[in-house]
Amino acid sequence: MIYYLKSIRNFFSLRIFSNTLGFKNLSFFLFYLVAKIIFIFQKKKIKKEYSKKFDENGYILLDNIDVTDISIKISKLFFNQNNYIEPLRGYKFLRTAVAQNLNQEIEYIVLKIQDQIENIFKSNFKIYFTNIQRSFPVQNNIEKEAQLFHFDDNPIGTKKIFIYLTDQYQDSGAFRTFNRKISDLLKKKGFLSYTTEIRENCQNLALSLSKDNLKIQSGKKGTVMCFDNNLIHKATLPENGFRDLIVMEVFPAFKEINSKNISKSLSMSLEEPDYPRWPFFK
Ligand SMILES: [Fe+2]
Repeated sequence: MIYYLKSIRNFFSLRIFSNTLGFKNLSFFLFYLVAKIIFIFQKKKIKKEYSKKFDENGYILLDNIDVTDISIKISKLFFNQNNYIEPLRGYKFLRTAVAQNLNQEIEYIVLKIQDQIENIFKSNFKIYFTNIQRSFPVQNNIEKEAQLFHFDDNPIGTKKIFIYLTDQYQDSGAFRTFNRKISDLLKKKGFLSYTTEIRENCQNLALSLSKDNLKIQSGKKGTVMCFDNNLIHKATLPENGFRDLIVMEVFPAFKEINSKNISKSLSMSLEEPDYPRWPFFK
């Protein structure tokens, strides 16, 4: 019976919201509507080309930025094993206490991309978490978890921003994703990924469309990419060297982004849920 109810919820929720969260999306929908209205009253101008491109594909490459200073600092931090944790094979994450010292540098980056992100959201935005990670080759790696095709199953409007601190190409760990159309098609065909077992069982379905449709988001150091968390995507370890990346999870907001929010996002532990349960209170 529960299985039957779940499949009905998934059927409708995936078609309306592209995730399986059902009614949970409503508070986010309302929150975003208010954020957009406030933005109009603040008389901020929107450049439609960003939102048009993003809405169509579910991802967008933004203007390159200069990351020379911060990438050198981060590279030095990864030399000292007290500065990071290794929650998964092939990944190091800077500890929050260490990452917080980079507040100013992160703020510099956010100011560079602020207008473009506002244009994508058509509202102000806030950062829920910021993490700084390094991935590297692992011998006999068996792809699992985020390295398998999946969608994050986050509430509508949840987006991620990737800031490339190293060149990232097919063999150097570039992110892979389907566009919105193919992601929706796969979900209609039954693609789900919210448990390990379901995720593993759905890999062949994603692979069946990957040959011509999987987009490798290659870019040189300084590339900024924004994507919808509910696209079907996967992480890939580099084959040699290492891949450094700043990851920010972003949501619409009522107020303009400020340094307090950036600092809070850097202090968010990896163990926290990957999205706020109540958009109005976070
Ligand atoms: Fe993901």
